[in-house]
Amino acid sequence: MKTHAPPREVIISVQHLSKIYKVGAERVVALHNINLDILTGQVICIIGTSGSGKSTLLNQLAGLEKPTSGKVLIGGRNISAFTEDQLARFRQRHIGFIFQSYNLMPAMTALENVQMPLIFRGVSKQARNKAAKRALKEVGLAERMRHKPNQMSGGQQQRVGIARAFVAMPRIIFADEPTGNLDTRTTIEVMRMMVRMSRENNQTLVIVTHDREIAEYADRIVTIRDGVLIEDKLNKSLADRPEDEQAMLERETDPVRQQEPQGETGATPSSPEQEKATSELEEYSPEDMREQRSGQ
Ligand SMILES: Nc1ncnc2c1ncn2[C@@H]1O[C@H](COP(=O)(O)OP(=O)(O)OP(=O)(O)O)[C@@H](O)[C@H]1O
Ligand SMILES: [Mg+2]
Repeated sequence: MKTHAPPREVIISVQHLSKIYKVGAERVVALHNINLDILTGQVICIIGTSGSGKSTLLNQLAGLEKPTSGKVLIGGRNISAFTEDQLARFRQRHIGFIFQSYNLMPAMTALENVQMPLIFRGVSKQARNKAAKRALKEVGLAERMRHKPNQMSGGQQQRVGIARAFVAMPRIIFADEPTGNLDTRTTIEVMRMMVRMSRENNQTLVIVTHDREIAEYADRIVTIRDGVLIEDKLNKSLADRPEDEQAMLERETDPVRQQEPQGETGATPSSPEQEKATSELEEYSPEDMREQRSGQ
């Protein structure tokens, strides 16, 4: 908190937002009376189980869908009242997206993919080329600019996705399960990168996930359940807690630890007794663990 002096103005204001889908005779209340103010530069995570309404909320925030009632203000402007044309222009100028499935154009190189948002904004060819190259360097892909998506790993493709979202310096970036297809090590890389880039440019980053560990990268965690906002709390980003990040990596890569019941925080052992117990456990193979448990 102290190292990243937070500017405190509200960039996104959600007011009494509800979304009801009608499917045949049935009504699905996907969002119910959501109220939420998001501040400039905040990294905020919306967490909830599958079907809780996360993507629906993101779609309303980004103006991809209209609310049934209530409204979304961005920079004080009521985007819920915009026409489709106004929304499209607004998104091009102010919003970037990162998707779970990367959504890169398969026939285009990394460099061409990253240039896309700049083409829509009418940036000259030379300037786009320069900006896209800089963005790809920023995400560590200087050596892969001429590669097409199918010539890159999942993590590299998502880094192209990040470069594309950030290249035009939008005020807000929305990411829906951005690491859903990545392993833990790559997830850490990608999350760190997104948090770092949004902090450097004071951009607001809104992440949607069902994964508690991903949520830990945010400055603020908002929980929704059955379309209702049930919790809203500040958080110290995992990007500022390298020891906890390391523990997360070890949990994932160590098959024995993976089977251990996790405390609520997934905390590492604190007392010498606990530490001893853990190191003894580590000498067992996963098979030993299973035998031990079934014998209890
Ligand atoms: N276009 C639609 N028409 C009808 N119902 C919908 C539509 N989109 C979403 N829903 C319903 O709204 C609810 C919330 O869906 P949403 O996609 O927002 O969930 P989610 O939290 O993003 O889930 P997941 O983690 O699986 O992506 C679900 O019950 C879903 O079936
Ligand atoms: Mg979803």
